[in-house]
Amino acid sequence: MKTIRDLKLAGKRVLVRVDFNVPMDEQGNITDDIRIRMVLPTIEYVLEQKGKLILCSHMGRPKGQRVEVFSLAPVAAHLSVLIGQEVKLAPDCIGDATEAMVETLQPGEVLLLENLRFYKEETENEPVFAAKLAQLADVYINDAFAASHRAHASVAAVPMLIQEKGAGFLLATELDFFRKAMTEPVRPLVAIVGGAKVSSKLSALQNMLDKVDRMIIGGAMANTFLKSQGVAVGASKTEDDLLDAARQLVQMAKEKGVKLYFPVDFVVADRFAADAVVKNVTAQDIPEGWMALDIGPASTICFQEALADVRTIVWNGPMGAFEMDSFARGTMAMCHAIASSHALSVTGGGDSNAAVKKSGEAGNISYMSTGGGAFLQLMEGKSLPGVDALG
Ligand code: 3PG
Repeated sequence: MKTIRDLKLAGKRVLVRVDFNVPMDEQGNITDDIRIRMVLPTIEYVLEQKGKLILCSHMGRPKGQRVEVFSLAPVAAHLSVLIGQEVKLAPDCIGDATEAMVETLQPGEVLLLENLRFYKEETENEPVFAAKLAQLADVYINDAFAASHRAHASVAAVPMLIQEKGAGFLLATELDFFRKAMTEPVRPLVAIVGGAKVSSKLSALQNMLDKVDRMIIGGAMANTFLKSQGVAVGASKTEDDLLDAARQLVQMAKEKGVKLYFPVDFVVADRFAADAVVKNVTAQDIPEGWMALDIGPASTICFQEALADVRTIVWNGPMGAFEMDSFARGTMAMCHAIASSHALSVTGGGDSNAAVKKSGEAGNISYMSTGGGAFLQLMEGKSLPGVDALG
């Protein structure tokens, strides 16, 4: 696979697929611009090389309709401040007006196309739409790691139509950290997996049992595992259709010599609310009608011990309902433990990254992936259509 440095960009129309799907508040202000800032090295490189930069992205899920709250206009304005030059916004991502703007674009200038998902053809990976996008460019760069698990037109079909193509700096960095963490890790390697559902992470858990030395399981998904082992979990959230799958995973871990760590105590609440009555109990003592919403202090100590001598840590999914302060302590403790470890640490997924930010430890994590679904798909051991298409 080529990277952006392998390609001649001077005077060329360089179409860069980015993931500017950033969170915004009701007033249209960007509340977290990390995905934009992570693409700046690629943007600056294209401009230094005197390419004609055409950026394209999706925003939200407008389902093929032109929905103004999903316009990329706020992103164009924000990017222009970040790079200190004008970012033109095309009225559309294809069509005559957009083509005319591309036509007059000069080397060193930036044009952002309007939201690709205003066309259902984008998510349908439709070839005519892809051809219209492809004809805007001489060179194609994928720097949208977080969208690379989607076989959508701008990610999968367009690069097949352009000969000169490669990975941007962000995509290359993401793949490199993933390789260091999961493909060629320095051992011991531990995976920390949390979050609400076993179902959304079942194949990632299965795949990782072939790779890791230890696996820590927390968050609501731990309830299903504990229940599968006969522990009474009260009113805690469980996926009862996955009790067998959970049992099999525990068995597989034994067979593969992977050490599994589950919470030994919990912060339980009488209801799912920030002002609920809470108490700490051991895993064996969850009262009927109460729900586990965070790991307890003894679990935190056990998990910290399991991290003490590891050399590589991959983390996806929080240990509890950390968005409520009463249930944030376990996840915050894990953030601090990961941050103070000497291991290479890679985190992925919106919740884990939000937790790291909340803990103030973002600067002490080796790499925070910009991907959610894309990161998980790599954890599942699957390739990404956007990467495959780069050849
Ligand atoms: C993400 O936020 O994970 C990416 O931008 C992909 O968005 P999607 O899940 O709507 O395809």
